[in-house]
Order: sequence, then C-alpha cells, then structure tokens
Amino acid sequence: MKYRSQKVAYWFFALSMLLLSLQLVYGFIMGFAHMGYDGLHSVVAFNTARAVHTNLLVVWLLSGFMGAAYYIIPEEAENELASVKLAYAQLISLAVVGVIAIVGYHFNYWEGRKFLEIPRPLDYLVVVNVLTFLGIILVTLFKGKKRTTTALVLTMGLVFAALLYLPGMIWFDNQAIDSFFRWWVVHLWVEGVWELIMGGILSFLLIKITGVDREVIEKWLYVIVGLTFISGILGTGHHYYYIGVGKIWIIVGGIFSALEPLAFLGMALFAIAMYRKGEKKHPNKIALSWTLGTAIVSFVGAGLLGLAHTIPQVNMYTHGTLVTAMHGHLAFWGAYAMIVLAIISYAMPNLTGRKLYDTTTGLYAFWLSNIGMLGMTVAFGVAGVAQVYLERKVGLEFGDVQKEIQVHFLILVSCATMFTTGICMYIYEFVKHGRPSDEALVTQ
Ligand code: HEM
Ligand code: HEM
Ligand SMILES: [Fe+2]
Repeated sequence: MKYRSQKVAYWFFALSMLLLSLQLVYGFIMGFAHMGYDGLHSVVAFNTARAVHTNLLVVWLLSGFMGAAYYIIPEEAENELASVKLAYAQLISLAVVGVIAIVGYHFNYWEGRKFLEIPRPLDYLVVVNVLTFLGIILVTLFKGKKRTTTALVLTMGLVFAALLYLPGMIWFDNQAIDSFFRWWVVHLWVEGVWELIMGGILSFLLIKITGVDREVIEKWLYVIVGLTFISGILGTGHHYYYIGVGKIWIIVGGIFSALEPLAFLGMALFAIAMYRKGEKKHPNKIALSWTLGTAIVSFVGAGLLGLAHTIPQVNMYTHGTLVTAMHGHLAFWGAYAMIVLAIISYAMPNLTGRKLYDTTTGLYAFWLSNIGMLGMTVAFGVAGVAQVYLERKVGLEFGDVQKEIQVHFLILVSCATMFTTGICMYIYEFVKHGRPSDEALVTQ
C-alpha cells in the first residue's frame, strides 16, 4: 500500500464478504425448494429468497467495485483519497440501505421488477450514496498527479453505471414500457459499463502482477472498450425479441448480441498474452490465478453461454427458464465475482502487510469454488434443457415440469456445497490477513 487512505478499501471488501455469505444462504434455500424441500416457505417464500439472493449479489459486487476504486484510484492518480471520513460515511450508508432493502423484501416492501426490486424511496438514498462515492473518486483523480487510461476507464465505468441506474427510477404505468427501460439498467450494466469496470481492474492487476509495460496493457484496454460498446449497446435488442416492440429488434438484437462474446474473448486473450509476456516473478500466485481465471471464465459464462441462447430462434424457447439461470450464474461468477475476488486477493497482503500469498487454503478456495460453480452451471443447464423440452415442446404445465426436474437440484446442491466450501476457505484467508495497518505502508 502506498497511500494511507487506501485502507478504506478493506472495509468495503469486508462488507462484500459478509453479503456474499448471506447470498449463498438464500441460494441454498432456493436449491432445497427446487428439490421439493420448501420447509421455510411461510417465512422465506421462493420469490423472496430469489430477490434477496440476486440483490445481495449486486450489492456485494458494488461494494467490491467501490473498494477496488478506493484502492486503485489513489495509486494510479498518486494522491490520497479526497476525504476518508466521507468514504466511511458512504460505506455505512451503503450497508444501511442494503439492510433496510433486504429486511423489507421479507415483508413485501419492494417492487416486483427482477434485479430492481429496491423500492423508489430507497432509490433516492442509493443515488445520494453513489454521488458521494463518485465525488470522492473524481476529486481524487482530477486533483492527483496522473490520470492513467486504467484509472479513466475504471472511473468512466463507475460514472456510467450510476447514470444508467436512472432509467430504472422513472415511473411507468405500462408494464411493457417499464420492461423496455428495465433492460437499460440490467443489460447495459452487465454487458456494457460493468465491462469497463472489469477491464479497468483487470488492467491494473495485469500491470502490477505481470510487470508488462503499461503502454502495452492499456492499448488492449482501448480495443476491449471499443468492442464492448460496438456490440453491447445494440445487443440490448436480445431482450426485445417478443416483448411487443418493433420486429427490427429481432435482427438488430440477434446480430449485435452475437458479437458480444468478442469483448470477453478479447479480455481472455489479453490476460493470457500479458501473462506469457510478463516476468512471472510476482509472488502473489493466488491473485494471479483469480486474475487469469476471471478473464477465462467470463468468456465461457458470459460469452459462450450467452451466445448459446441469444439467437432469436433459440431464445423463443429458452427465455426465462433455468437455461437463463445457467448462464446468469457462470457469467456473474466469471466476470464480476471473480474480478472482485482477484482485486481483494491482490490488495489484502498490501493493505495488512501479511504476505499470505501462496497458501494451500487460498489455492483450494480458488479450485473448489470454480469447480463447484462449473458443476452448478451444468446442473442448471441440464435442468433447463429438460424444462424447455417438457414445458415448451411437450406442453406440460409449469408446476408438473418442476417436479420432473427436481432430481437435477440434488446435483446442484451438491456442487453448491463444494462451491461454498471454496468460498468459506477464501473468507477464512481474508480474516486471517487481519486488519489493514499503517505499518504496511513501508512494505512496498
Ligand atoms: C458478464 C456478462 C453477463 C452477465 C453477468 C449476464 C447475466 C445475465 C442474467 C442475470 C440474465 C437474466 C436477466 C433477467 O432475466 O433479468 C441474462 C439474460 C440473458 N443474457 Fe446475459 N449476461 C452477460 C453477458 C451476456 C452475453 C455476452 C450474452 C450474449 C452473447 C448474453 C445473453 C443473454 C440473453 C440472450 C439473455 C436473456 C435470457 C432470457 O431470455 O431469459 N449475456 N444474462
Ligand atoms: C450456494 C450457491 C448458490 C446456489 C445454491 C444458488 C441457487 C440459485 C437458485 C436455485 C436460483 C433460482 C433459479 C430459479 O429461478 O429457479 C438462483 C438464481 C440466481 N443466482 Fe444463484 N445460487 C448460488 C450462488 C450464486 C452465485 C455465487 C451467484 C453469482 C455469482 C449467483 C447468481 C444468481 C443469479 C444471477 C440468479 C438469477 C438467475 C436468473 O435470472 O435466471 N448465485 N440461484
Ligand atoms: Fe443482455
């Protein structure tokens, strides 16, 4: 750690770990419900568990991104954070809004829009929170000595992500129009601006870990940003196939969304090329595994498994089934969960001064969570294909089909147990690093 104020990042990472653990609890509740064991139904019904599971995911990822920015921006801009006190206030308010939202969901205080369930009054608090965060980051960056491409791409991603939250806050009486704009948030986040956040963090990690020249790494970053925007913006059309908008979206969405994997392929090739070119001397092998891992798994989960159901002729059958959940899991895991775990693995030894670089637990955490998540993806995929066939080809009722596919959730829950063991090991390592310390300032 080079700047004292970077320590703020630790607390965002800690919040992230806490919310990730809770997310998994709700995942298991749903996994068991799918198997036919829905004992908690009267307390946590499936729809509540689902909203809590997905919203916790978004909040722990955002907390991870914010921690990443608080760690990266001072180092890139060569400046202490503009206000550490405000950053802590922002952390607390993020946690408070998150807790109110999650508790509220258990009492039906929500909007039933998938991923955007947070009720409107709380949205305003989110806006204040995010504006505070962006204020700190922008002042730190623009008052700093340097404005690197890496820092600018990361900041651009964060600013656009905040702006794109707004279309989700407009009130529409018409559900179809509401759905149209919901995708401006959900799709343009994960298949647009979050990719810039991922690209920025990835570039920072590759510069630090591989030792390859910044100029080379940042040139790739431009290519990735270009590919993301060319394909991702009009790619939104893959959510507009049969929702009541113009037929033109079938062609536009089909073509441009089929190009989206290129940005993820670019990231995978980029990371591998930089690793091969680099010196391979950096001792933090765990951070290296997560960094290369995120680039490769995101290509599989988002790129390939996205492509698997993005063509209109396929999506007509698979839409809204467990095929979507298959892709949703590996895409979110590979691209955004793994990049957060990568930056945490890189930052923790620097923040705390404890160099737990190459521990067996850390390595097991990586492999168990990844193999577990791959297994879960396969289980969702098999259940999904069976569901599509029985429900949409044979014509069985939704509930009857769900009974037929219960057996696949036995596999899902087994793989999820392996995954969770990996995550527990990761969190154990996190805790073992201890708190950030000023003494770590001299260790770099
Ligand atoms: C890291 C990037 C990505 C993430 C995190 C992600 C995640 C998700 C999630 C969670 C959904 C369900 C959304 C909802 O129903 O509200 C979804 C839907 C979808 N995604 Fe992705 N995705 C990513 C990239 C991609 C890419 C690159 C493609 C295409 C090549 C793609 C194709 C699709 C399609 C076609 C759907 C609609 C499925 C349906 O009709 O039910 N995704 N994605
Ligand atoms: C213990 C591990 C986990 C289990 C057992 C689990 C299980 C589930 C289940 C059963 C669903 C509902 C599927 C349905 O609608 O029928 C779901 C939804 C979802 N989960 Fe998980 N999950 C776990 C971990 C994760 C992780 C780590 C992530 C992200 C990195 C994630 C992302 C999602 C997403 C994005 C959805 C919504 C998918 C969609 O829109 O179709 N889950 N999960
Ligand atoms: Fe999309």
